[in-house]
Amino acid sequence: MDLNQYVSILESRFSSGLLRHSLGVADTAADLAGIYRVNKGKAFLAGLLHDYAKELEPELLLKLANQFKLPVDPITWVEGRKLLHAPVGAALVTAELGITDPEILSAISWHTTGKAEMSILDKVVYLADVIEPNRDYDGVERLRALSRLRLDQAALAAVNMNIYSVLKRDLMLHPGSVDLRNDLIARIRDQEKYTERC
Ligand SMILES: [Fe+2]
Ligand SMILES: [Fe+2]
Repeated sequence: MDLNQYVSILESRFSSGLLRHSLGVADTAADLAGIYRVNKGKAFLAGLLHDYAKELEPELLLKLANQFKLPVDPITWVEGRKLLHAPVGAALVTAELGITDPEILSAISWHTTGKAEMSILDKVVYLADVIEPNRDYDGVERLRALSRLRLDQAALAAVNMNIYSVLKRDLMLHPGSVDLRNDLIARIRDQEKYTERC
């Protein structure tokens, strides 16, 4: 399937807002992939498809998660669709679109909660989701600029923002986000130590 075919499938499946967001994430992810030297085509496709299951009803997401035998942890159970759309989306793009590339599937699976030891492509899509051109919030320009300079620092700012927003709304905090944050802090400290030694 070529990219235009994927886009026309999304045109028939997504609301116009989600389509615009997905195209924005695809372009931004490809751009960041160029900067951080990972595969641009994979970044574009993972960005394009990252929210493939976003507009499915929560009951259907749970049903599909069971069908695909995906683990549904207690936090995901309570917070439902917000978190499940990522792993269910990865399973669905395999089942419906024949996508089997593990790097693309990983970036789709982890784009919401995050996890420790995310790959560069995972982080590129995670960041592209929050800085794509249709996003508009205080600090987005700063995060866009940081994203082009320091991937881990930008991912840390993004996960911090995500955690603040979860705390503010009294939602349950997914341990994957805490794991991602701790992992990034450790990596950034290691990089700083290495730079000091040089
Ligand atoms: Fe999403
Ligand atoms: Fe998204």
